[in-house]
Amino acid sequence: MSKRKPLISGNWKMHHNHFEALQLVQKLSYQLTSDDYEAVDVSVHPPFTDLRTVQTFFISEKEPVPIALGAQHCHHEDQGAFTGEVSPAMLAKLDVRYVIAGHSERRELFGETDADVNRKVQSILRHGMTPILCCGETLEEREAGSTEAKVTGQVEAGLAGLTPEQVGGMVIAYEPIWAIGTGRTASSEDAQAVCQVVRTVVGRVAGAEAAESVRIQYGGSVKPTNAAELMAQPDIDGALVGGASLVADDFARIVRFHA
Ligand code: 13P
Repeated sequence: MSKRKPLISGNWKMHHNHFEALQLVQKLSYQLTSDDYEAVDVSVHPPFTDLRTVQTFFISEKEPVPIALGAQHCHHEDQGAFTGEVSPAMLAKLDVRYVIAGHSERRELFGETDADVNRKVQSILRHGMTPILCCGETLEEREAGSTEAKVTGQVEAGLAGLTPEQVGGMVIAYEPIWAIGTGRTASSEDAQAVCQVVRTVVGRVAGAEAAESVRIQYGGSVKPTNAAELMAQPDIDGALVGGASLVADDFARIVRFHA
């Protein structure tokens, strides 16, 4: 039995204004119980414009809500002339705990390179937050048999220059691009096989202890109906959920995979 506590994260992408965000976290917080939070760490990653509202809601409840606040992206510099960007220092000030780095949509649609992603990871850590480093292959790469090479390269590059302690405390999300938003989930065996590769790579670059403690999420069409089977795999320690995290009932049911 793994000692790693699962982390279920909701990546809202570009959905929900701050009013809708508030409704969603209210509903979610009324559904989740202390048993859930004991078994599973939970984070939500709203758009930047919602962060302050969600943060305020979490801390202003009579019992502060133990859902961690997350962001979807950041720049690697602390400040400067970078129009439209948000810095890790700004996120840390809002009690953001987890920041996604190198999501495939950022890589594919906004041209983020492995080197950019590594700079973000370093900067997120420097500000005391936890990166969720994303990796994953396209359908063409899977069919060409290069899944392992792609994921290995992304993980090695993303972790470059980090200490074993830093790596051991982070989260890596394996998200096959062909499974994102398509309703096509990787089978639990396929997901496990790649997550095992990720853990082996971590062991090689940061040592056995880091490999044992790093949390590896699976992402790509995770739903209430498939979460438990995916989470039962030995190297899968949680999920990065897109579409299903926008509906409080569905996301709560995914968090409850343990029950
Ligand atoms: P879906 O759950 O909508 O497939 O999205 C997965 C994802 O990209 C989470 O980061």
